[in-house]
Amino acid sequence: MWRPLRGALGSARRCLGVKVCRRSALLVVLLWLVSWIFLNGLVFVHRNMFSDFCTDDKSKEILQRVCDEYHQGVLTGDLCDDLCVSGQVEYKRCLYYENGKKVMAASWRGLPVVLKSKLENFSSYEALSLLDYPDGGAGGGEDELSPLDVVFYATLEIKNSLGLETGNNLTLPRLWGQRLKESERMYSRAELASLWALLQQEEYTFLRVLQDLTNHVAKILGSCGHFYAVEYLAAGHAWDQHIFSLDELTLSPSPSTFSVKEMVPRVALSFLEMVEHFENDFSHRLHLCDIKPENFAIRKDLTVVAIDVDMAFFEPKMREILEQNCTNDSDCNFFDCISKCDKTKNRCGSKRRNSNLQVICEKIFRPWFSPTLLGAKAGLPLQVELQRAVQECAEMEDSEHRQDIRQQLYALLRELVQEDTGHPRGGQEHKRRRVHTALNF
Ligand SMILES: Nc1ncnc2c1ncn2[C@@H]1O[C@H](COP(=O)(O)OP(=O)(O)OP(=O)(O)O)[C@@H](O)[C@H]1O
Ligand SMILES: *[C@@H]1O[C@H](CO)[C@@H](O)[C@H](O)[C@H]1NC(C)=O
Ligand SMILES: *[C@@H]1O[C@H](CO)[C@@H](O)[C@H](O)[C@H]1NC(C)=O
Ligand SMILES: *[C@@H]1O[C@H](CO)[C@@H](O)[C@H](O)[C@H]1NC(C)=O
Ligand SMILES: *[C@@H]1O[C@H](CO)[C@@H](O)[C@H](O)[C@H]1NC(C)=O
Repeated sequence: MWRPLRGALGSARRCLGVKVCRRSALLVVLLWLVSWIFLNGLVFVHRNMFSDFCTDDKSKEILQRVCDEYHQGVLTGDLCDDLCVSGQVEYKRCLYYENGKKVMAASWRGLPVVLKSKLENFSSYEALSLLDYPDGGAGGGEDELSPLDVVFYATLEIKNSLGLETGNNLTLPRLWGQRLKESERMYSRAELASLWALLQQEEYTFLRVLQDLTNHVAKILGSCGHFYAVEYLAAGHAWDQHIFSLDELTLSPSPSTFSVKEMVPRVALSFLEMVEHFENDFSHRLHLCDIKPENFAIRKDLTVVAIDVDMAFFEPKMREILEQNCTNDSDCNFFDCISKCDKTKNRCGSKRRNSNLQVICEKIFRPWFSPTLLGAKAGLPLQVELQRAVQECAEMEDSEHRQDIRQQLYALLRELVQEDTGHPRGGQEHKRRRVHTALNF
């Protein structure tokens, strides 16, 4: 910021005594000052103009519109009654608003939740074309549609947004289809229109598909129209690399039962569990291509949750993304997902070379277990061994020792946890809360 000023003063000193020169130097300083003030003003105005929308007034206005449309019968959902009639959803504050994407904190029957929608208005979502044909459904009713059509459309949408082939082994829609056939229940226009708006939000679709399969994504608790509620979590911070702040979670009075010292190895263990899940438990491997603390959060029981899934891809989509023309390896880097350039074909390999674990070791574990953050503990034998293991993990790329490295990290972290508490604590909570019904046919 001060460099131009120093430059101007320097040139003024160089032509000492020459009046014109001094005056021009003064002019430069003045000009610089004016433009500095102007730029700052611009930033100020910009910040005010654009953050102004993330206000309580704006949020309440948006929720009011949702409720108006609920009362008109345009949209519906298992959250609507609590939000619009019985007043059991209490708005807390706006968390994020940009390009129409709205994220708010609220409290639902005393439970802290986050309300989200990719677009603020219901009408901004594409209408379900099925709804234009009154006689479309097998049931034939004016306001009701065949559940099988719903499954068909929902499956197509999921396939598109996740890049999965439905004909093959995406078992979930098939399950839904089965249940639908059995239930015989018909769906109202409002229900289908709401479901359709939700399915157009990649994040919702993604979370919805993974809900039943893993504990490491945010739980969807309910929805009303295009807004869906997920559990409130403590997100990691870019400026606070080594720890997630559990204080944020204590909207409720129960204090955290973990000390900071205990937390790090426990959270690290949960990261390892998550990685293992994502690699093995779905019909396709799940790749996380944007790994940084802000994109993960923890629950009170210290399970790690992936909260930003915009950059998470299943294997088929990953291959599609990686297969690019290239001249050298650096053309084959897609954020944290990298492959190699085959110089004979000038094509990037479709198989990812590094792994979720490697990037987590590099970007999250290494800072956590670095000597500077560990302080006096850094010299302890267990810590030294852990640092070495993390380093090895951060440097591995398609290494055949992958499993060994993972095992070693597991063992060391478990030892650390036991050392801290004197005894191993029982497994983490897998308690089920409410079951969200928008897609539970
Ligand atoms: N479940 C949650 N609990 C608490 N805070 C959350 C939760 N989900 C999102 N947030 C916060 O809301 C903000 C915006 O959320 P989100 O990550 O969905 O939007 P985003 O900023 O568009 O993501 P990105 O731009 O990185 O793709 C973030 O600052 C995040 O910390
Ligand atoms: C949402 O709807 C309101 C009222 O109908 C309108 O004023 C606003 O511009 C709309 N916003 C977007 C992003 O379309
Ligand atoms: C899909 O599952 C069937 C068994 O249900 C199996 O035979 C087939 O190989 C699987 N296909 C893929 C692509 O995994
Ligand atoms: C990639 O290269 C092939 C030929 O090697 C060419 O036909 C194709 O258009 C290229 N694609 C892009 C996106 O540049
Ligand atoms: C790789 O190619 C890009 C342009 O495609 C170039 O900017 C970069 O310097 C190259 N890197 C190496 C190591 O040759």
